[in-house]
Amino acid sequence: MKQHLYINGRRVETKEYRTLRSPYSGEVIAEVAEASTADVDAAVQAALEARPAMRALPSHRRAAILEKLAVLLEERKDEAARLIALEAAKPIKTALAEIDRTVQTYKFAAEEAKRIHGETVPMDAAPGGEGRLAYTVKEPVGVVGAITPFNFPMNLVAHKVGPAIAAGNTVVLKPAEQTPLSAYLLAELLEEAGLPAGALNVVSGDGRVAGDRLVTDPRVNFITFTGSPAVGTEIRSKAGLKRVTLELGSNSAVIIDSGTDIDAIVPRCVSGAFSNQGQVCISLQRIYVLEDCYDEFTDKFIKAAQKLHIGDPLDPDTDVSALISAKDVQRVQEWIGEAASMGAVVALGGEADGPVLKPTVLLQVDPQASVSCREVFAPLVVIERVASVDEAVGRVNASIYGLQAGIYTRDIANALNAADRLHVGGVMINDIPTFRVDHMPYGGVKQSGIGREGVKYAVEEMLEVKLIVINRQ
Ligand code: SIN
Repeated sequence: MKQHLYINGRRVETKEYRTLRSPYSGEVIAEVAEASTADVDAAVQAALEARPAMRALPSHRRAAILEKLAVLLEERKDEAARLIALEAAKPIKTALAEIDRTVQTYKFAAEEAKRIHGETVPMDAAPGGEGRLAYTVKEPVGVVGAITPFNFPMNLVAHKVGPAIAAGNTVVLKPAEQTPLSAYLLAELLEEAGLPAGALNVVSGDGRVAGDRLVTDPRVNFITFTGSPAVGTEIRSKAGLKRVTLELGSNSAVIIDSGTDIDAIVPRCVSGAFSNQGQVCISLQRIYVLEDCYDEFTDKFIKAAQKLHIGDPLDPDTDVSALISAKDVQRVQEWIGEAASMGAVVALGGEADGPVLKPTVLLQVDPQASVSCREVFAPLVVIERVASVDEAVGRVNASIYGLQAGIYTRDIANALNAADRLHVGGVMINDIPTFRVDHMPYGGVKQSGIGREGVKYAVEEMLEVKLIVINRQ
């Protein structure tokens, strides 16, 4: 299969195509267009020219398009899930759950499209403001450049495209190099749902070529990116005066207080650490357990992790499959070696079987080891013993990241103190940091990013406030 670009409502051939392979089996999935800078320029031009058509759509029409999209995606759920299982090696049961969430995200976007409004401003609050009536309206920011990651190829695209359309913007989407096919499926569905030509353009290709061009093009008004802090920082420095939303990484942690029902929480913690091979920005990477329940928790966690099914992403029983690239398998093995050389104990896993890194549990890890202080983005978790919740909060906060954190406790004072003191974008009390539903505000502090997603919050970011002042004379 040959996958062309999607520009101005048409499939557009380009000069170069790249062979896309399954990260699990290595089989060829497709030949995918590599957009040149000229292709990106054409896509941005199409998005610019589609702005009047999008602005002319009343909000109920934008909502109807998004509602129709949700229906169409639901109808093609199995096909969409299979596509992301193939291109991302996401286990099929996790992929099906992602499509369910994606449908929800577009439904939320449809609702938010109808709730965009400004406010009146009490002008007489300032001397000199008397006799004036003022109100604000919210206008679309313009052309949105969306650069998306491989780990949720449909839902993290939805978190950018859904709000952009709800707000009346047009979009140029640069999907992750390993997961372009689901983005082209989205383009097909949006066309069927009645989106005007040019309102969504998809340009697959190299981040350094297509991504860079999008970020530096002065006709693009807003960049929304999910990915690594290194790339996010580079985007921000190149984006000039464009507004940006950056959803970056983390080494998310949970605290387990004394008195927690360990049997009840172990399955949830295992899922938080190993779901989608740990390739989730809020994957559970660090677990801080109070001394008196450390042995019980560690023992039960390891036993539960040993039961995970490892294998083909298309097998409905599979829990853990291939990492996205051989380079990542090698990187994580090097990090495990580094931790071991600093004194860590490999209590489970630690080795790879071809493209699959086995679920790995490390104990007694030096906080300076990469597996603890950097984002590992793999099925690996560090379990540490702590003397108090206070110490645990300090350890969680001793991070360059701050996306989400969790605490399991029956003590209301400990819960509320942790909620106050944890320096993150979201605190989950009696849950893992990996909890997310798609309308909640989502984003981080420190190197975890700038701005918030979660449909309503992303819509806000993609709007400009315009003020109108009427002088009554
Ligand atoms: C992410 O990896 O940032 C997204 C996590 C999620 O949507 O569950």
